[in-house]
Amino acid sequence: MSVFRTMPVEDILTRGERSGLIRRLTGKDLIGFGIGIIIGTGVFTLAGIEAKDHAGPGVVLSFVIGGVVAALAALCYAELSSAVPTAGSAYTYGYATLGELFAWIIGWDLLLEFALGAAVVSRSWSGYVSNLLGLPPEWFGEDATVNVGAILIIAVLTAVAVIGIRESSWVTNGLVIVKVAVCVLVIVAGLFFFNGANLDPFIPPAQPAAETANPLEQPLVQVVLGMEQSMYGIGGVFTAAAIVFFAYTGFEALANLGEETRRPKRDLPVGLLGSLIVCTLLYVLVAIVLSAMVDYRQIDEGAPLAAAFQSVGQPWVAALIALGAVTGLTSVMMVELVTIGRIGFAMSRDGLLPPKLSQVHPKWGTPHRMTIGGAVVIMLMAGFIPISELADMVSIGALSGFVIVSLAVPVLRRTKPDLPRPFRVPLSPWLPIVSALACLYLMTNLDIITWLRFAAWLALGLLIYFAYGYRNARLAKPAPDTARD
Ligand code: ALA
Repeated sequence: MSVFRTMPVEDILTRGERSGLIRRLTGKDLIGFGIGIIIGTGVFTLAGIEAKDHAGPGVVLSFVIGGVVAALAALCYAELSSAVPTAGSAYTYGYATLGELFAWIIGWDLLLEFALGAAVVSRSWSGYVSNLLGLPPEWFGEDATVNVGAILIIAVLTAVAVIGIRESSWVTNGLVIVKVAVCVLVIVAGLFFFNGANLDPFIPPAQPAAETANPLEQPLVQVVLGMEQSMYGIGGVFTAAAIVFFAYTGFEALANLGEETRRPKRDLPVGLLGSLIVCTLLYVLVAIVLSAMVDYRQIDEGAPLAAAFQSVGQPWVAALIALGAVTGLTSVMMVELVTIGRIGFAMSRDGLLPPKLSQVHPKWGTPHRMTIGGAVVIMLMAGFIPISELADMVSIGALSGFVIVSLAVPVLRRTKPDLPRPFRVPLSPWLPIVSALACLYLMTNLDIITWLRFAAWLALGLLIYFAYGYRNARLAKPAPDTARD
């Protein structure tokens, strides 16, 4: 028995045919799902915070860097997900190529990314709603002892996710249109208030961090290179890139829908790259307009886009934008909940999590136990823990998963050269290697405290793996057609 035992690709492919999940989604549904999960807190809130705290108008470049890194990883995802369409995505690719331990780590990272992501977004949703409707901040704000708004929205969306994937897809597609329209509104209306002077200097010169700055909040790369803790400058642009990478996380959720897509080999690459291209364009344009409308030092950190229009005397545009943000954040949570169900489903089916979690609901055809179980954990976090400081964890969880996915491409080409690959990453192995290095580099721009928390999460995961998964894995109980050390 080895922690590096791999799952045969043939086994994954045949299993997909009899999983009980229903193939109903089209390429268009997938692009809708992709945009539904990608656009959210990242552009509505983090763009403003990062311009103010780290990059100035250079945050535009941070979004470009984040978009390029995400696109490299998406190319790797497109090859793997079109060749091996499965509900487990990155987790399953890891299982087929690098072995069980890596697979567990990716699955564990993905659960972190989507659960924390949903919790973060539900709290900011609650704050926006409180703002818009004048609800009491002691129940809906960031300082609430119990954030009732965040718990309620997760409960409602969990019910939708359990009732059916098709219904989730309708909700998501409807909300996506509103969300894209809001970004376009910001871009077009913002052009009337474009003040080029605010873009100069485009990258504010580097300056030492405040005396009171917490040393644990220094990016790892600066510590390793023995640099002074500083803000702005080129370093600030990269720090902001690592943080706004949050804005791109989620596209990989599409790769989890391989067993529910009508023509996965064609539709998955279309959905992955299509949704990412649309989002990158919108982000860069929104970031340019925001930086040109408001001096970066004056940007509002709570609701940057709405406040920018208030500051130029356009309260109605501001209100529309706030409404759109609330709507947009709803669709992000929706897809995150659907995804948690699918990842847990795949891990449980392989025996790494208890088998009850992978039972599909007889009527609704969804992995309801995992979705509800995940939602309870999210509600506990969203209701009681001040999550804002943990948002960087979403980026580090996603980026570390992308490193492994990128490396899985050349490994699978070597171990399974004859597997049909409807989509092939160009220039392999070089492009996947560059993708892995780019993700690693962005990770080093996150601060020390994020790395420490991430290490603690991994340690907990390894504990669970060795206490449960290692012994109960389906591969640990040899059946003639599945086990291979
Ligand atoms: N990418 C998603 C967002 O920005 C998680 O909210």
